[in-house]
Amino acid sequence: MMEPQDALILIIDDEAPVRDGCKQALEKAGYRVLTAEGGVEGIRIAREEKPAIAFIDLKMPGISGMEIIEILSKDFPDIVPIMITGYATIVSAVEAIQKGAYDYIPKPFSADQLRVMTRRALDYRRLKLETRILRAEKERMEKNFITFVSHEMRSPLVVIRQYMEALKAVAGDGFNQNAAEIIERCRVRIQNLETMVERWLDISRIGEGTFVRPKVPLALSQVIERSVEEMAYICREKGIILDADLEQDLPGIIGDEESLVRVFVNIIGNATKYTSKNGRIRITARGGGEGRVTVFISDTGLGIPAEKLPFIFEPFYRARGKEERERGSGLGLTFCKKIMDAHDGAIEVTSKEGQGATFFLKFPVPLKSEVRNTDRVCGDRRHLRAGLRG
Ligand SMILES: Nc1ncnc2c1ncn2[C@@H]1O[C@H](COP(=O)(O)OP(=O)(O)OP(=O)(O)O)[C@@H](O)[C@H]1O
Ligand SMILES: [Mg+2]
Repeated sequence: MMEPQDALILIIDDEAPVRDGCKQALEKAGYRVLTAEGGVEGIRIAREEKPAIAFIDLKMPGISGMEIIEILSKDFPDIVPIMITGYATIVSAVEAIQKGAYDYIPKPFSADQLRVMTRRALDYRRLKLETRILRAEKERMEKNFITFVSHEMRSPLVVIRQYMEALKAVAGDGFNQNAAEIIERCRVRIQNLETMVERWLDISRIGEGTFVRPKVPLALSQVIERSVEEMAYICREKGIILDADLEQDLPGIIGDEESLVRVFVNIIGNATKYTSKNGRIRITARGGGEGRVTVFISDTGLGIPAEKLPFIFEPFYRARGKEERERGSGLGLTFCKKIMDAHDGAIEVTSKEGQGATFFLKFPVPLKSEVRNTDRVCGDRRHLRAGLRG
């Protein structure tokens, strides 16, 4: 990276005394300086010479300082633009900052003030460039991590599981009960580890943008219907009533049906883990105002202590720590949150310990122009029920 003292500074000002004064003051501090009388020349120099900083006078004939700042911030984001302004134009200076200027320096200013501002802007630029390099590095590491996890961890796990299955098949009834039990426990543990790795990979893929498939207009009622169908068996097994009561004319949304079904199945799945026999899981949906539709999934189970609520969407977090009675990796809700983010939606929760939990899924409703008429997806009021009496 360029040493700060070698930095190239561009001054764009129509007043020759200001240009010359700035040039002298900055050259004295060891910087290289180029000057331009107006916007067209200034932008040409910016393009050809790529200065680190551009001081730009606000009031100039021809292209205004504000326009130059807009162009520089858009086309040359590595140049730090600073507005030179008169006392009377502080309001415009604020506008300039909104348009991308790093700061402003009011006229008249001393050589020292100019040098201090320059140093500060160079520090800012250095941090900005370093941040970009680090971000690129982080992205590269995340990509490598996905490859590492899938090749170095998942593949051997699959192979080990297959060997254990083969071992069982080969041995037939040859193992004594003790040995057979140990092998079965190994198999279950390996299967759990495999599921966890799969979930972690799914989460990484959502971040990478390769998990959620192209979004299309769809009916939430259908997503909910499929999820209820998928979870009906386990609810029946556990003696839990699962029902969905969906408002008539529920607005359609834009999304990826498969990943949304996974979200609902995860949340209903959690509810089944923490709700006891004769409990109830209820799904309701409301097309509220503010262009949103909200689905509520409530259960009558154990609930989540208030102080734990802020953490439950974090990876590997389990509210009851080691006391969790059910197996799980603590990745389910992280997965749900990422999918909801990818749909510009939100997931929230309210709960009181001992009084069940309610999860809210909020979806934006597309504008009419985004959904063709034939795609308009709304249905009759639907009442789905599965479970005890289902
Ligand atoms: N409906 C619920 N009732 C009570 N606690 C819940 C409920 N849903 C989630 N939790 C708590 O939040 C934690 C995080 O849930 P999450 O789905 O992320 O992980 P998990 O279910 O433990 O594991 P995984 O989903 O990866 O198999 C759970 O361990 C549990 O403590
Ligand atoms: Mg879960």
